[in-house]
Amino acid sequence: MSRLKKEIPLYLSEEDRQGLRAAGRFNAQLMDFLRPHVVAGVTPLELDRLAWTYTTDHGHTPACLGYKGYPNTICTSVNDVVCHGIPNDVPLKEGDIINVDLTTIVNGWYGDQSETFLIGETSDEARRLVQTTFEALYRGIRACRPNCTVRAIGQAIQTFARAAGYGVVREYQGHGIGRAFHQEPGIPHFPDMASGRHILKPGTCFTIEPMLNAGRWRTRVDSRDNWTVRTMDGSLSAQFEHTILMTEDGPEILTLTQDGPQEGDTVCASVAAARS
Ligand code: MF3
Ligand code: CO
Ligand code: CO
Repeated sequence: MSRLKKEIPLYLSEEDRQGLRAAGRFNAQLMDFLRPHVVAGVTPLELDRLAWTYTTDHGHTPACLGYKGYPNTICTSVNDVVCHGIPNDVPLKEGDIINVDLTTIVNGWYGDQSETFLIGETSDEARRLVQTTFEALYRGIRACRPNCTVRAIGQAIQTFARAAGYGVVREYQGHGIGRAFHQEPGIPHFPDMASGRHILKPGTCFTIEPMLNAGRWRTRVDSRDNWTVRTMDGSLSAQFEHTILMTEDGPEILTLTQDGPQEGDTVCASVAAARS
């Protein structure tokens, strides 16, 4: 996101941190709830409906719905869609990859995360891209220390992604998060100059959400809906996102799932059977 709110205090008290932890925990629970449904035959709109119902049944608020006019609860970005894919009624099919991006407001605090899922048997290239993107997220997280620069994150991610031959998306970044969806600091996934002046003090909460393209990094927004972002060259794109709290002891991942891939794992296709 490029326009970030400036007025929000960045250094969070222990009470604030508990609020963010609860939001991250619920958001991760929502991801685990959706996980078995992300299979061939399901439509992104069905996933969207499931996410809306689960969120509101638990008394929480879908953050994307109505955000700057966004029409749905979740973002579903399939194949060459980089991010902000609007859920549609096209069933997922074997060989697709889909990023599911979830954001929830829990007692005024935001939790934000995404995963890219492999639908059934995918090409080796799709698997390698998704695996590399998953590992790139953790390269970014492990580059974080208290009072490090934001640039350390982008440096780690870009170095890793480039070695694999992938383009790192520049137009969309991670972001500070708290009582607002998107706030300072911006977290670019490449080492830009300005991020070398921004320090991650304990009490800062932010997302890391690298988008890697199998081809070149450039993207374009679909002019029909003004949301859907695709790779310019039509290549596949993958993304993973966590919400991170910088503590006095290092980064704390607030959106860890129970059932999803854990740090060091190989990302694999959902074990759930395809829906006929
Ligand atoms: N969840 C996305 C992010 O990681 C933002 C989606 S904004 C929406 O920042 F309006 F498209 F939902
Ligand atoms: Co985000
Ligand atoms: Co997100």
